[in-house]
Amino acid sequence: MRLIPGLTTDACVLIAGASRGIGLALCTALLARDDVTQLWAVARQASTCEELAELAERYGQRLKRVDCDARDEQSLEALASDVRGECDHLHLVISTLGILQHDGAKAEKALSQLNLASLQATFATNTFAPILLLKRLLPLLRKQPATFAALSARVGSIGDNRLGGWYSYRASKAALNQLLHTASIELKRLNPASTVLAIHPGTTDTQLSQPFQANVPEGQLFEPAFSADRIIELIAAHGPDDSGSFWAWDNKPIVW
Ligand SMILES: NC(=O)c1ccc[n+]([C@@H]2O[C@H](COP(=O)([O-])OP(=O)(O)OC[C@H]3O[C@@H](n4cnc5c(N)ncnc54)[C@H](OP(=O)(O)O)[C@@H]3O)[C@@H](O)[C@H]2O)c1
Repeated sequence: MRLIPGLTTDACVLIAGASRGIGLALCTALLARDDVTQLWAVARQASTCEELAELAERYGQRLKRVDCDARDEQSLEALASDVRGECDHLHLVISTLGILQHDGAKAEKALSQLNLASLQATFATNTFAPILLLKRLLPLLRKQPATFAALSARVGSIGDNRLGGWYSYRASKAALNQLLHTASIELKRLNPASTVLAIHPGTTDTQLSQPFQANVPEGQLFEPAFSADRIIELIAAHGPDDSGSFWAWDNKPIVW
C-alpha cells in the first residue's frame, strides 16, 4: 500500500502532536514502514519524551524530534526552518494537535460553563495551531504528491450534532474543518497533486478521552495503534480528487 496516492518515491513525513496518544502510535506505525525515510516528530517536549527516545534508539537518524509549541507562530517558523534545512519536500503531514480538557480548555455541558478563556484556549490548539502549521509548512508541500491531514472529530460536524454540549471543542473542530476545506482550494491551485483531509479517528483510549470513556459502548474504544492504522489506510485511499473532505476512521464520509 502506497503511503499517499501517486507517490512513487520514499517519503518524508511530519507528525505534529507526536508525544503520546494517536500521534505517537502514528510515529510507531510509520517508522516501521520501509518507504518512510525521514519522520519529524513534533510536540512541546519531544526531545525529552521517553517513548520518542525509545523510537529514536530503534530507528536512529530516521527520526527527528523537534520541540515546538504549535500555538506559537515563532515556534512554528523555527520548526519549518529546521525541516527546510534537511529536506525540500514533505510528502505527508499529519496534525493530531487537539485538547478537550487540558491547557485551560473545558468540556462544557451548558452555556453557563462557557467562558472566554476556555474558548480561546481550545481554539488556540484545535483550530489555529493546525492551520498555522500548514501555513508555515506550505513551501514544503508545493511539488510532487503531498497530503496534509488533520485529526478533527465527528462532534465537529454541525449536521451530526444531536446531543449538544462540548461547545468549545465542537466549535473548534467545526472551524478547523472550514479552514481545512478553504486551504484545500488554495492548495489545489498551488499544487494539483496536493490533498487536504479532515479525519475523525474514532474514540480512542488516550489521555484526551480518558475522563469520558465510561459511556463508550463496548468494542467502540480503540487502541491508539488501531486508530493509527485506520488513519494511514484512509490517507492512502484519498488523493487530490477528495481534497477538502471529512472522513471517519471506517472510510465513511462525515457530513459537515
Ligand atoms: N482520543 C479520541 O477519542 C479522539 C476522538 C476524536 C478526535 N480526536 C482528536 O485526535 C487528536 C489526537 O488526540 P489524542 O487522543 O491522541 O490526544 P492526546 O493523547 O492528548 O495527544 C495530543 C498530542 O498533541 C500534542 N500537543 C497538544 N498541544 C500541543 C501544542 N500546543 N504544541 C505541540 N503539540 C501539542 C501533545 O503533545 P504535548 O502535550 O506533549 O506537547 C500530544 O502529543 C486530537 O486532535 C483530538 O481532538 C481524538
